[in-house]
Amino acid sequence: MVTDRGDAEGLRSRIAAELARTRARTALLTEAVDDSELMRQHSPLMSPLVWDLAHVGNQEELWLVRDVGGREPVRCDIDELYDAFKQPRRDRPSLPLLPPAEARTYLATVREKVHDLLDRVAFDSRRLVVDGFAFGMIVQHEQQHDETMLATHQLRVGPAVLHAPAPPEPASRVAGEVLVPAGPFVMGTDTDPWALDNERPAHRVELPAYVIDAAPVTNGAYREFIADGGYDDPRWWSEVGWRHRQQAGLNAPMHWRPDGDGWAYHRFGRWDRVRDDEPVVHVCFHEAQAYATWAGKRLPTEAEWEKAARWDPATERSRRYPWGDEEPTPARANLGQRHLWPAPVGAYPAGASPLGVHQLIGDVWEWTATPLRGYPGFAAFPYREYSEVFFGGDYQVLRGGSFGTDRAACRGTFRNWDYPIRRQIFSGFRCARDASREEALR
Ligand SMILES: [Fe+2]
Repeated sequence: MVTDRGDAEGLRSRIAAELARTRARTALLTEAVDDSELMRQHSPLMSPLVWDLAHVGNQEELWLVRDVGGREPVRCDIDELYDAFKQPRRDRPSLPLLPPAEARTYLATVREKVHDLLDRVAFDSRRLVVDGFAFGMIVQHEQQHDETMLATHQLRVGPAVLHAPAPPEPASRVAGEVLVPAGPFVMGTDTDPWALDNERPAHRVELPAYVIDAAPVTNGAYREFIADGGYDDPRWWSEVGWRHRQQAGLNAPMHWRPDGDGWAYHRFGRWDRVRDDEPVVHVCFHEAQAYATWAGKRLPTEAEWEKAARWDPATERSRRYPWGDEEPTPARANLGQRHLWPAPVGAYPAGASPLGVHQLIGDVWEWTATPLRGYPGFAAFPYREYSEVFFGGDYQVLRGGSFGTDRAACRGTFRNWDYPIRRQIFSGFRCARDASREEALR
C-alpha cells in the first residue's frame, strides 16, 4: 500500500503514463478509419467504434471525475446512451450517438479533469483509491475496449488500415505435454493492487496430477481435425455444441476459407496462407471442446490453467506471471497489439513457466472448461456489474490474454469470460488430460 509521499508521487506519474499510453492506443484504433466508418456497425456483435470511444470517456467520468473526485458532471445527458447494460450492441448504431469530433472533445475534457484530480488525490483516503485502484480499473477498462475495437477492425470489410511488424520466429522447438504434479497451489490474489474483484481472494486449491499441452493448439494440428472430418462427426461434440455447429454451419475457424489444397485466413484486411505453427485463433468454446475430445484429451479447468501458469515447484509459490513477478516485456509475451496475430509456437522461450509451459500469456485467449463463478469468499467491488452479474454459468472463462490484450489488463490471475459460441474474440485453446497412474507416480 502507498503510505509515504515519495511512493504517492511515483504512483501518480505511473498512472499518468498508463493513462497516456492507453489513450494513444485508443486514438490509433479510432483514427485509422474515417468518420463514416467510425459510425458504422461492422457486425451486429460489435458496437460502432464511436460508441466504444465515448463509452470509455463516460466510464472515466462516472468513476474518476464524479465518484473519486466528487466533481460536477461533465455531461450527465449521455449516461444512458453509453450504459452497456441498457443498450444492447445490436441497437447501438440507431442511438443518437455523439459524432466523432464531439466524442473526442468529450474525452479530452474528461481527461483534463482527471489529471487535475490525479494531482491532488490522497491514495489512502478510501478503498476505491488505495494504490490507485480506480485509476487502474479505468486504464484496464479502456484497454479492454481497445481490444474489442481491434476485434471490430478484424470484422471490418475493406483494405488494411492497421499495420504492425510480424511476430518473432520460433527460437526453440516446443511440442508435447507437461506433467503438473498433484498438490495444492494458491489461486487468485489478495495482493495485486489493480486486480479486479473476480480475481480475489487468494485461496488454496488442491489438484490431482494432470498433463497439459506445452503450447496452444496450432493451425496445423487443427487442420488435421478438419481433414479428419471433425466438423462432421457428432461423437466429438457436446450435445449443445453439435446443435450450435449445425445451426451456425461451422466448418473451420472464423475468417478461414479454402485455398487450393489448404486454407487461407483473413487478418485485418489481408488474405494470407494459414501458417501451421501458429496457435489457432477465432474458434468458439464448442470447437475447442470438440477438438480436445477428438484428440483424446479435454480442455483444462481454470484452476489447471492457472497452476500451470503460476506455480513454482522450487518455492511452492504462485508467481504473478509464468516467468516470475516482473512485468511483461516484448521478449516474454505477444501482448498489446505489438503484432497483429499470434506468434508461432516456440517464439517466447523467455516467457515459459517453471514447468516448461509456453505462451500462456499473450498470443491467444485460451478457453477453459470452467464457467465463470466467484471464488470462495468473493465480494463484489466496486460494483456488482463488473463481474458478479455474469456468474450464472452462461459464460466460459478464458485465460492468458491475446496479442490484442494490453499488459495492464493481463496477469496470471486475470479472468476473461464470454459466451461459448463467441469466436470474433482472439480465442484459441490448449488441451489437458488426467495423468495416468504411472505418470502421477513419477
Ligand atoms: Fe465497458
